Amino acid sequence: MSEHAVHPVPQWWAENALIGADEYAVKYRASIADPDDFWRGEAQRVTWMKRFNSVKNTSFDAEDFRIRWFEDGTLNLAANCLDRHLPAKANDTAILWEPDDPARPGRTLTYGELHEQVCQFANALRADGVKKGDRVTIYLPMVPEAAVAMLACARIGAVHSIVFAGFSPDALAGRISDCESDIVLTADEGLRGGKAVPLKANVDAALEKVGVRRVVMLRHTGKDVPIVEGRDVDWADYAAGQPAECEPEEMNAEDPLFILYTSGSTGKPKGVLHTTGGYAVWVSMTHEYTFDYRAGEVYWCAADIGWVTGHSYVVYGPLMNGAITLMFEGVPNYPDFSRFWQVVDKYDVATFYAAPTALRALMREGDEWVKKTSRKSLRLLGSVGEPINPEAWDWYYNVVGDARCPIVDTWWQTETGGHMITPLPGAHALKPGSASFPMFGVQPALVDPADGHILDGANEGALVILDSWPGQMRTVYGDHNRFIQTYFSQYPGKYFTGDGCRRDADGYYWITGRIDDVINVSGHRMGTAEVESALVDHDAVAEAAVVGMPHDIKGQGIYAYVTTMEDVEPTEALRKELVQWVRKEIGPIATPDVIQFAPALPKTRSGKIMRRILRKIAENDTGNLGDTSTLADPSVVEDLLANRPHVA
Ligand code: WTA
Repeated sequence: MSEHAVHPVPQWWAENALIGADEYAVKYRASIADPDDFWRGEAQRVTWMKRFNSVKNTSFDAEDFRIRWFEDGTLNLAANCLDRHLPAKANDTAILWEPDDPARPGRTLTYGELHEQVCQFANALRADGVKKGDRVTIYLPMVPEAAVAMLACARIGAVHSIVFAGFSPDALAGRISDCESDIVLTADEGLRGGKAVPLKANVDAALEKVGVRRVVMLRHTGKDVPIVEGRDVDWADYAAGQPAECEPEEMNAEDPLFILYTSGSTGKPKGVLHTTGGYAVWVSMTHEYTFDYRAGEVYWCAADIGWVTGHSYVVYGPLMNGAITLMFEGVPNYPDFSRFWQVVDKYDVATFYAAPTALRALMREGDEWVKKTSRKSLRLLGSVGEPINPEAWDWYYNVVGDARCPIVDTWWQTETGGHMITPLPGAHALKPGSASFPMFGVQPALVDPADGHILDGANEGALVILDSWPGQMRTVYGDHNRFIQTYFSQYPGKYFTGDGCRRDADGYYWITGRIDDVINVSGHRMGTAEVESALVDHDAVAEAAVVGMPHDIKGQGIYAYVTTMEDVEPTEALRKELVQWVRKEIGPIATPDVIQFAPALPKTRSGKIMRRILRKIAENDTGNLGDTSTLADPSVVEDLLANRPHVA
C-alpha cells in the first residue's frame, strides 16, 4: 500500500472539540469498564416519560441470548425530536430542503412548523385506524414530508418501513408483504437529476401483487396519475383539518421503531428491526460526537432516507440534537458537477457527509467544478457506506476541504444503527482510508476466519463486536432465528459484521470490505443471491452466479455468469434484455455491469459453485486461480477464461 500522509489533529480542533484525545481515552475506557454507569449518563440526552432503572441487559450467548437496553423506561422519539425543543427553538430551522432543480424554490421548516405537520399527519394516521405496532410502508422521494411521515409514525408508535424510492415494484411488493403493512405513503413522482421517477405508478404495479387498504399520495410534481377510489387519498386531504397537537404514544424503550430491509449473503432481504430507547441514545450521541455538532450550524448528510444513513443522520440523530438538517432531493451531477458545492455555499453548510462513490465520480471530472465555489463555511467532512480509497480521501481533503477540514470515515451498518468505528475530529490523527477507532461502548475484535480465535495486535481477520451497544438491531422482523443464525452463529458469542478488517501497529482499524456474499455497489448493499434469483426468474436462464468486480467509481460492480436454457442461443440481444430484466426486478442500482454467458459454471463434485474462481476471473486476476483440482470438470474454467468479455 502506498504511503499517505498522516494528518495530526489541527490545533483549533485539539483546543475546541467536544471530545479531545485525552477525553476520548478516558471516556472510552469508562464505557467499557462500567457500561451501566456510562450509558446511564448518556441516556440523559433523552427526555424519558418514565425513567428507567435497568440500563444494560444483554448477552450474545446462545443459551441466554438477549439484547435489552433501558428496558423499563418509556419515551416517545418524535417528542424527543420536536416537542422538547419548542420552548427554545420553535422558530429555529429544523429542516432546510433543496430541490432537484436549483431554479425552483427551496423550503425551510422550523421546529414549530415541523411539529405541527407531524402532529397533523399523526392525527390523520390515527383517524384512519393506524395503531401502535402497525407497520407503515413509506416510498417517498427526498422531500420534507418523508421526515414528517417518519416522525408521525414514531409519534403514534407505528413502525415505519421505508423502501428506497429507486426500488422496483417487485421489490416494493416483497417488502410490503413481508411486514404485512396495509398502508403505503408515497408521492405522484420523484425527481432526480431532472428525470421523473414514477412512484405512484410503481406503487400501483406493486399493489397488483399485494393488497393494501390505503395509499396516501403527496402531490409533488403535479403529474396526473390514476387514482383508485376508496383506496387512494391525497396527502393534503388526508391531513386537512387535523388538530396541530397530537398526544405522543408512550413507548417502551424496547418497542419497535422501524424496520429497514437490507441485503444479506443469502435469501431475500431481511427486515432489520430497531427499537426506540437505545436507538435514540445511540444516534443522538454519535451525531453529536462524531460531527462535533454545534447549535446553529447547518449540517448536511447527502444520503437518501431510503437507507439507514438517512434514518439515523438525516432525520433522527440531528433532530434529537436540535440541529439544522439539510435535505437534498437531487444528485451530484445535475445540473452540473458543481452542484454539491453550490449547495454548500448557498446554505453555509458546516458539515458535509456523503458516500465515496459520489466523490470518486466528481473527482474524475476535475478540480475546476469544486474550485469555482467557496466552501469556506465547511469545517468537517464525512464519509460513509463503503471503504474510501486513499486517493479519493486525499482529493476530498485537499480539494473539497482545502486541507482545512478533518474527514470522519464512519464505519457502521444498517444493523448497528449508528457509527461504530470512526475517528473523532478533535481526538484522532487521521490516516487516509482508515475508519480509525471504536465509538464509546464498542468493542471490536478481529478473529481468524478459520477457527474464530481472537487475533491480537497488528493483524487482519474477520471483524466482530464482542458486546452489545444501545443502537444494535434487535431482531429480523418475523424471523428471530434468522437473526441469531446470521449474526451470532459463525463465531458463537460474538456479533459477526460480515466485514474483513486490518488493525495496524498504532491500533487503527482499516475495513477491507465484505467477506461474505454481499457486494457494495456505489455504497448500496446488494446480495449476490438477490441478483442471481432475479436472473434465474427469466425464462431464458438456467443458472446464474453473481460476484463483485472492482469498479473505479462504484467501488464494486456486478459481474454475472449466466448459463442459458438448452434451447436458448446466448446473443447480444439477450444480454441486453437480461440487464433490463434485473433493473426491472430489483431496481437500477442492481444493473449488472458485465454478463458473461457460460455453457457451465465451475462446480465441485458435490455441486457447489466455486465462487472463489468466479471472483478471480471477474477481477481479471486469472494468473492465480488457486486449486482447481476439486472441480467436477476443470475444462469449464478454460472456457470461462477464453470467453471473458472485454471489460472497460
Ligand atoms: C460497508 C451503511 C468501509 C461495510 C452505513 C458494511 C464501510 C456495509 C464503511 C454496511 C466505511 C459502511 N468503510 N466500509 N466507512 N461504512 N461500509 O448496511 O461493508 O448499507 O458492512 O450501512 O457497508 O452497509 P449498510
